[in-house]
Amino acid sequence: MLPLVNDAFLTLTPYVPGKPIQETERELGLTGVVKLASNESPYGPSPKAVAAMQAVLAGVSDYPDGGAFHLRQAIAEKHGVEPRQVVLGAGTSEIIEMVIRTCLRPDENMLYADPSFVMYALAAQAAGRKLRRVPLTADLRYDLPALAKAADHKTKLIFIGNPNNPTGTYVSRRELEAFLGDIAPDVVVVMDEAYFEYAVASDYPNGLDYVSRRDRLLVLRTFSKCHGLAGLRVGYGVGDPELVDYLNRGRQPFNVNTLAQVAGLAALEDDAHVERTARQNRVEMARLTPALRARGLTVHDSQANFLLVDFGKSAEEIFAKLLRQGVIVRPMGAYGLATMARITIGTPAQDDKLLAAIEQVLR
Ligand SMILES: Cc1ncc(COP(=O)(O)O)c(C=O)c1O
Repeated sequence: MLPLVNDAFLTLTPYVPGKPIQETERELGLTGVVKLASNESPYGPSPKAVAAMQAVLAGVSDYPDGGAFHLRQAIAEKHGVEPRQVVLGAGTSEIIEMVIRTCLRPDENMLYADPSFVMYALAAQAAGRKLRRVPLTADLRYDLPALAKAADHKTKLIFIGNPNNPTGTYVSRRELEAFLGDIAPDVVVVMDEAYFEYAVASDYPNGLDYVSRRDRLLVLRTFSKCHGLAGLRVGYGVGDPELVDYLNRGRQPFNVNTLAQVAGLAALEDDAHVERTARQNRVEMARLTPALRARGLTVHDSQANFLLVDFGKSAEEIFAKLLRQGVIVRPMGAYGLATMARITIGTPAQDDKLLAAIEQVLR
């Protein structure tokens, strides 16, 4: 009999998302559970995005615009590029899969930093492609010189999460420029900037500044984080028109739905909402970081909307205990960080609940 599945799937372990609120409430008989596990925005989407969706709801009997003309146009205008340099995806997760499928041949390999966003490795495994991991430095930063050194003549793809998930650390402008100078022009570098809007470090680079300097560079941005539209699934990539054209050839024709297109457009135009969300995040981060450190926990400086917290003991146990207090965090065992949990910055009230729960659990 022929094997049921592609060999790559025999060893594939599925992506484990953050535990949902309703599931937790159902299982533990709790109410008012707070989820700080998936780096969603606690401030929600722009009201303008909600209104835009309401205005088109009755039209969902029609297929979406497969080329997402208006959204692509607006993204291009916002970033000073051409629409043919913009590819849209059902979240950047889909674009990560698209790049791997489109660019990586069976005899070529992909490099990724470990730990970084698990979808890079997962998507390459599912596609049956060769992948090589390069560990982060001891202080949990990208080791770009090590990545450049690890690249061989068959390396086609390198992912750089900036800021990185789950560490919140970032690659500086100087480090990025040295890396781009070191790396062969054959390599497609994907700069994943899912948390771009949150980053404030003065030497944090804008990946879009490098798109005109390197053909094989794709910058990813998402509406899932600071724009508060994670449930809609919409993100985009900006790069060279030739690369973008190939990505567009292989995608599902209607990969970004009608609601996501109109909400994305309205969200893109509501700079004030994005700025407010990022500002509130910073204020809460500045409060939470020292508060957690004052409880004896190691907290890594973050440029994103989450903190990586080292509890110095099993994070699975801490996770289970916090769950009973009605707070969902993300234990990082699957990322090889057994004593750490990633905690999304919440609203002031959510963070108060988190701090009280941690106080209780550590007692
Ligand atoms: C670094 C990074 N990239 C990409 C994504 C995917 O986001 P989405 O598919 O919702 O755009 C995430 C989500 O957590 C992320 O942390």
